[in-house]
Amino acid sequence: MQDDVVISSAGVAMPRLIYGTAWKKERTAEWVALALAQGFRGIDTACQPKHYYEPGVGEALHAAFELGLGREQIYLQTKFTPLSGQDPLQVPYDPRAALDRQVSQSFQKSRDNLRTDYLDGLVLHSPLADKQELMTVWRAMEHIVLSGGARQLGISNCYDPALFKSLYETATVKPAVLQNRFYADSHYDTELRKFCRAHGVIYQSFWTLTANPGILANAVIAALADRYRRTPAQILFRYLTQVGVVPLTGTTSAQHMREDLAIFEFELTQDDCAGVERLLG
Ligand SMILES: NC(=O)c1ccc[n+]([C@@H]2O[C@H](COP(=O)([O-])OP(=O)(O)OC[C@H]3O[C@@H](n4cnc5c(N)ncnc54)[C@H](OP(=O)(O)O)[C@@H]3O)[C@@H](O)[C@H]2O)c1
Repeated sequence: MQDDVVISSAGVAMPRLIYGTAWKKERTAEWVALALAQGFRGIDTACQPKHYYEPGVGEALHAAFELGLGREQIYLQTKFTPLSGQDPLQVPYDPRAALDRQVSQSFQKSRDNLRTDYLDGLVLHSPLADKQELMTVWRAMEHIVLSGGARQLGISNCYDPALFKSLYETATVKPAVLQNRFYADSHYDTELRKFCRAHGVIYQSFWTLTANPGILANAVIAALADRYRRTPAQILFRYLTQVGVVPLTGTTSAQHMREDLAIFEFELTQDDCAGVERLLG
């Protein structure tokens, strides 16, 4: 069971490891049910039929709630995906509607798909290129929070520190989540992560394992894996959680789910963390 949580600047508790639901298509419900059964209590999805089957997430959650799991025990996060990220043949809102209406229609679709009154997090899937359009969408998302539909907001695929800081400064409802690809090309978002730490914004990582085969194979990680009798993936995930990052894992293997959750059974020393930190330098 995942008892260990982080609290965002919005006061929302979030498990330190989140189960991601992308690319699972018609097997989404099956794998989300498996993840819940293994003990995951944080779920990430999106209203983006191209990559996510949101109704499958809702089906698995509904079944778990019927069996006694409480809605308040789950951190549930979805995304508004702008038109540029949608498959034109399956846009989940009216593509001709004004931007703020696209946001509200998408959010209503998510609530229906997920069979819930409220979301714990609503994340903008990627910044819109036009700053004014970005703020129109953000204001519509703020409206959802202010009217009780979502508890906090976030943004994803935002790698420009200046853009993120400007959104943070302009927003009435500040971003409380930044969900980014964790990879060398962005220098592992060192500057952004520092800003997030200083402002209580939770940084969520994806591609954590797939983008970093070199790090996972590095001798420093191998030595730690050997010493702690854990896998290299567990060492990297554990390190990240100890420096305040919330990794996403979308594994479809029960064994990997258990291994991922088992990272909370051990703790790296400060020296060990410094060793891993140097690999990201
Ligand atoms: N905001 C965005 O634009 C965006 C983009 C991409 C992803 N995401 C989110 O992030 C989630 C995770 O996606 P991801 O790109 O990081 O990759 P992922 O879907 O978690 O894939 C991880 C890969 O690593 C393998 N793996 C090996 N050992 C593992 C272990 N111990 N634990 C977990 N996986 C292990 C998995 O294989 P097995 O299945 O065999 O374990 C899988 O092939 C997605 O489901 C989605 O929710 C968001």
